[in-house]
Amino acid sequence: MTISADIEKAADFLKEGKLVAFPTETVYGLGGNALSDAAVAAIYAAKERPQFNPLIVHVSSLEEAKKYAEFNDHALALAKKFWPGPLTLVLPRRKDCMLSLLVSAGMDTVAIRMPAHPVAQKLLAAAQLPIAAPSANRSGRISPTEAAHVREELSGRVAMILDGGPCEVGIESTIVDCTGDTPEILRPGGLVIPAKAGIHSQSDFCLRENGGIKAPGMLASHYAPSKPLRLHATEAKPGEALLAFGANVPKAAMVENLSLRGDLQEAAANLFRMLRRLDASAAISIAAMPVPEEGLGIAINDRLKRAAAPRH
Ligand code: TXA
Ligand code: MG
Repeated sequence: MTISADIEKAADFLKEGKLVAFPTETVYGLGGNALSDAAVAAIYAAKERPQFNPLIVHVSSLEEAKKYAEFNDHALALAKKFWPGPLTLVLPRRKDCMLSLLVSAGMDTVAIRMPAHPVAQKLLAAAQLPIAAPSANRSGRISPTEAAHVREELSGRVAMILDGGPCEVGIESTIVDCTGDTPEILRPGGLVIPAKAGIHSQSDFCLRENGGIKAPGMLASHYAPSKPLRLHATEAKPGEALLAFGANVPKAAMVENLSLRGDLQEAAANLFRMLRRLDASAAISIAAMPVPEEGLGIAINDRLKRAAAPRH
């Protein structure tokens, strides 16, 4: 089948309330009709996701997003500047919002984004529906950046997996809360927002175990490989596989290098695939070398910290 025939078929599945995994520029999403409580409930079930964790709604345009949510000036400026792209806005739901209440997990806000990946855009256009989609992994596990990862995670639980090749960005969208007077970053991600934009970051706050979590998905332990992960490694101990960064790599039985030339964009795109590979290796645990805390490195370090956090 051609990719456009596949997209038509996937759109039909969505209209029937079934689930479809699809590529976005960040990671693969597990999509369902965002207007249907039953379809959204099926997403939670397929992911084995705790119900208090709300989902991102994917839309085809800013105009469509405005049908569901209130945009203040900040939100409008961000959407105009960065959509389509790896930016999710948390916004107040409109009074007449038709989206499933379950996508908001009972809150009066909704997270919305317009993806840039052509397959995601064609799917939205063909289905003529808003698509609720968390990352297409089972809850608490590493996000998929290739169709093969989705198969490992969700085989038999989705009607179809659209294969759009490896995700270009490789790390989830940046989430900005626009419900208050000043926008706040709830999750650092694939869109680097310059410090001079004056948008306050909540990420450290969110990492605190009992710190009034605003994005409920920001639990300390998240994106977890099955093997223990050690941060700030300068060498690999016996039994450890090494997640390296840069040209000066210490000896280890198994090495995956995020970026030999120290490029953060390349590192983000490689992160989840390499974590998956090391996790599937014969090593007992994983050691991760330091990544600079700047630009995309902030999102990479955020995911590594969560992968290393004690499990619940
Ligand atoms: O790049 C991405 O964002 C990918 C692709 C598929 O779009 N999606 C993704 O979804 O990462 P997910 O479900 O794995 O993460 C969504 C995050 C969660 O941490 C969730 O708590 C937060 O968004 N979120 C969703 N709705 C929210 C809301 N109303 N208020 C605060 N946080 C919200
Ligand atoms: Mg996720």
